[in-house]
Amino acid sequence: MLRTDPWSEGLPKRCARITALFLLHAALSLAAVNQPVQFPHNTHMKLGLACVDCHTGADIRAAAGIPSVTKCMLCHAKLATNKPEVKKVIQYAQKGEEIPWRRVYGFSSDAHVKFRHAPHFEANISCATCHGEMSQETVAVRSIDFTMGTCLTCHRQRKASQDCAACHY
Ligand code: HEC
Ligand code: HEC
Ligand code: HEC
Ligand code: HEC
Ligand code: HEC
Repeated sequence: MLRTDPWSEGLPKRCARITALFLLHAALSLAAVNQPVQFPHNTHMKLGLACVDCHTGADIRAAAGIPSVTKCMLCHAKLATNKPEVKKVIQYAQKGEEIPWRRVYGFSSDAHVKFRHAPHFEANISCATCHGEMSQETVAVRSIDFTMGTCLTCHRQRKASQDCAACHY
């Protein structure tokens, strides 16, 4: 029989198919964090901004940091004020509240990891090595899951520290 009608497969196969689709959907929705504002990285990178203009700690501190809504308002007090997603930004600013961004990267506190951006910036490792091509994305998507192995593979290659105390507290 050449014809393959999915609905003629019988119930167990059909259930398996639907379960597979459900799991695929769940995996995809895990990848993209549901953020309070659909902030487009790609649009802003086209304006000629640098990553460190907003993530001002990424070159000099441990944490890269997320920009305050007051930084957004430097432009959005006047620019694109009629767009629905920008209106949300303006509302947060008017209430004097920060936008409650949800974290994308990070380690569980059980792992006691202390990551520092500055030494990586100084070693000329691009943001994209660890975060993917953010200039092509809208809101950040976790593109790399760091295990201890991911960090150590590069540290061995680049002769950086493999001392437990460098990465753990
Ligand atoms: C340097 C100026 C500048 C800064 C700073 C800036 N934006 Fe924008 N943003 C723009 C411009 C210009 C556009 C419109 C681009 C276009 O549509 O042509 C835009 C577009 C947007 C849009 C998309 C609107 C749409 O639906 O098309 C959102 C959402 C947004 N900005 C949020 C933010 C947030 C949140 C911040 C702070 C973290 C921020 N922006 C900081 C200039 C800026
Ligand atoms: C060697 C890998 C690596 C490089 C290179 C890197 N990051 Fe990160 N980044 C991380 C890790 C790991 C975390 C999670 C850190 C944590 O939770 O302690 C992170 C977290 C972040 C965060 C979340 C906020 C914060 O303060 O932790 C932002 C934003 C960020 N990085 C931006 C950048 C930018 C911009 C660059 C380039 C200038 C960059 N990163 C380069 C690995 C890297
Ligand atoms: C106009 C400001 C702006 C610029 C420029 C910008 N970002 Fe962001 N970035 C944000 C905001 C706002 C968020 C929080 C929303 C989100 O997660 O996408 C964010 C989130 C992130 C995160 C996830 C942080 C977390 O929660 O772990 C990473 C990684 C990141 N940016 C990297 C970059 C890189 C790399 C560049 C340059 C290619 C860049 N950003 C340019 C504003 C900016
Ligand atoms: C792509 C390569 C690469 C990756 C991936 C990477 N690192 Fe590094 N790391 C380096 C280099 C290069 C240095 C700078 C070494 C130097 O200055 O001598 C460094 C330095 C550091 C330092 C400072 C060490 C010191 O002695 O002061 C810490 C802490 C660190 N890395 C933690 C991490 C952690 C945690 C991860 C994983 C989440 C990670 N790194 C992933 C290349 C990398
Ligand atoms: C270059 C950075 C780096 C070095 C050096 C390093 N670790 Fe880790 N380690 C990590 C990161 C990152 C994690 C968290 C992985 C995760 O969250 O999945 C981790 C996780 C762990 C965990 C938790 C178990 C796990 O796999 O999640 C233990 C235990 C651990 N490390 C022990 C050590 C010991 C002992 C040393 C020294 C021999 C060491 N680490 C050196 C980065 C490092």
